[in-house]
Amino acid sequence: MKNEDTGLQSLPGLLKLQATAVQGTRQQVQAGSGQLRSIMSSRIVVRFHTLLFLGVFVLLSIVGLKLSFKIPVFLKMSPEPKRQSVTLDDGVHVYHLNFSRFQEEFPYLQSYRCSLLYTPQPEDLGLSPILLLAIKSHPRSTSRRAAIRETWAKQAEVMGYRLRPVFLMGLSDREQHMEIVKVEEEAYRDILLWDFTEGHHNLSLKERCFLEWLHDNPQEANFIFKGDDDLFVNPSSLVRYINENAPSPFQLHGALQRHSVVLRYSKYKISYTLFPNAKYPYFLSGGGFLFSAALVRSLYQTSLRIPVFPLDDVYLGFLCLASNLTLRHNNLFYVFGLKFDPCNYQRALVVHRVESENLLQIWNQVQEAHCLTGPNIKFWG
Ligand SMILES: *[C@@H]1O[C@H](CO)[C@@H](O)[C@H](O)[C@H]1NC(C)=O
Ligand SMILES: *[C@@H]1O[C@H](CO)[C@@H](O)[C@H](O)[C@H]1NC(C)=O
Ligand SMILES: *[C@@H]1O[C@H](CO)[C@@H](O)[C@H](O)[C@H]1NC(C)=O
Repeated sequence: MKNEDTGLQSLPGLLKLQATAVQGTRQQVQAGSGQLRSIMSSRIVVRFHTLLFLGVFVLLSIVGLKLSFKIPVFLKMSPEPKRQSVTLDDGVHVYHLNFSRFQEEFPYLQSYRCSLLYTPQPEDLGLSPILLLAIKSHPRSTSRRAAIRETWAKQAEVMGYRLRPVFLMGLSDREQHMEIVKVEEEAYRDILLWDFTEGHHNLSLKERCFLEWLHDNPQEANFIFKGDDDLFVNPSSLVRYINENAPSPFQLHGALQRHSVVLRYSKYKISYTLFPNAKYPYFLSGGGFLFSAALVRSLYQTSLRIPVFPLDDVYLGFLCLASNLTLRHNNLFYVFGLKFDPCNYQRALVVHRVESENLLQIWNQVQEAHCLTGPNIKFWG
């Protein structure tokens, strides 16, 4: 801002200087002979051109300075996606994604270029691997984020892994939501905020832009858990699961939806023109799933070329199919909820639909529970 102010103040000053110079020359011209007059008048023209040039230069620099405040955002903008139709085959069904139809029905999803307004505090370089906990959250869900930060999304070390919580957010139409988000961002520095508006279909942009951020910041994660903000998550179970499944990192892990029926009504409705198939390929429920950072590169590159499907979990399913990655089911991802029992929750990786009012109490009970089943789990390291 300082530079901009200086630039603006100097403009009237410079114009005044120009005026004085022109006046001075005029007086000299009137005093001199005819020949001198013509020499001087040609000088005036030259001077005038120089001053005009200077004026334009100053104006351009001011415009440039103003623009330069926006440049950080421009620089972070992603490459322009070059999408096209694809035909995918999972061995059972064939899926054709016709790009011109996606373009007609969801043009914004196809053309949006990821632009970040807030980025989290960069992770310190350390020796222990990072388990990134990426939580989709709406700006208005303040109490959910507060409860999560109090319980499972703490910066902590669990059995050799550093936990790193980040919230994935878009914009809210309500100014007061964004003011709260700004306060949170200053207090916690754990927010990734993009400049699209929150909305059901725009969750696919959250998926795509999150992959782009992971791709551009490979130091931020070794493993990624991504899920909703109404979850109970058990970080020690996640770490144990990662250690047990290390031999097969080229898979994504979660609650597998096997050839779900395409709905033509409700908020999940998809038109026949966009997607005529009756079934979706396999995908993991968006409630919560886990994958290795080793997969980010191919997922990201696929995300630049295939059409963006307007349901985020199905979209990731298409990305996996097109990237030749496999999905693995584990029934400890309770994406449809689980009746509370401290020992079942202690074994769970994820339980969906846990409201923030109950989360702290559940969390404490699970930590204090002495369960006979399974290995002895200690929560924080
Ligand atoms: C894709 O859709 C367009 C119109 O929306 C149609 O003209 C074209 O034939 C379709 N392409 C394929 C391969 O189905
Ligand atoms: C997605 O974001 C764009 C840009 O902010 C907005 O115009 C659009 O309405 C949003 N879509 C949905 C479905 O909310
Ligand atoms: C996908 O992976 C399988 C083995 O998992 C391999 O046989 C096949 O060639 C791969 N296809 C592509 C397109 O990479």
